[in-house]
Amino acid sequence: MGFVLCVVLFVRWTAAVEVDQICKTERLKLTERLQNCQKERHDVNLMLLTVTQDSRCSLCPDGWLWWRRHCYFFSVGQQDDRRWNESAEFCLQSNSSLAVITDSAEMEFLQGVMRRFQQVPFLWVGLTDAQQEGQWRWWDGTDLQHYMPVTVEWDADYRDCADLRGGGSLFAASCEAYGPWACKRDS
Ligand SMILES: *[C@@H]1O[C@H](CO)[C@@H](O)[C@H](O)[C@H]1NC(C)=O
Ligand SMILES: *[C@@H]1O[C@H](CO)[C@@H](O)[C@H](O)[C@H]1NC(C)=O
Repeated sequence: MGFVLCVVLFVRWTAAVEVDQICKTERLKLTERLQNCQKERHDVNLMLLTVTQDSRCSLCPDGWLWWRRHCYFFSVGQQDDRRWNESAEFCLQSNSSLAVITDSAEMEFLQGVMRRFQQVPFLWVGLTDAQQEGQWRWWDGTDLQHYMPVTVEWDADYRDCADLRGGGSLFAASCEAYGPWACKRDS
């Protein structure tokens, strides 16, 4: 009896060890694939930026970037920092608006552009709580979390305009502050 029990337990134990081993191997494989995907995505993003900056392929006005059926304007590198409302005015005059960020891919795109211009500490985007303190709304009138579960740091009643920083964080800032901005429109 004891011997049989031992054999059964031993068989179960080796099976468990085997399963554990398979899991580890699978996990390693998956991690590797994920890393490859991330690297490929990064390369594709770079290619996309290069292609869209080639004016022959451009669906956007000069100086604008095309990305996913939209045109984006980044004021970076123009030495032309503006207040939030003046930035918004600039966008309006180009038939666009301050950027409304609608998903994490778009956020990643904006972050990629910011990384390319490393002197850019932040960008004005189309997000404000000037209408009602604490009620952040995107330019299109939607609530802060309508598209993504984002938050605005440092909110205070004298900081009614949102700036986008590295890592995808949004900070409340005085609308009177001067800075670069991002416009967006359909292509
Ligand atoms: C922006 O706001 C400032 C002061 O808050 C004001 O003087 C200026 O006229 C406004 N500009 C636009 C384009 O609305
Ligand atoms: C904005 O749109 C209007 C009307 O479609 C057009 O006349 C104007 O040229 C456009 N402006 C810019 C800067 O694209």
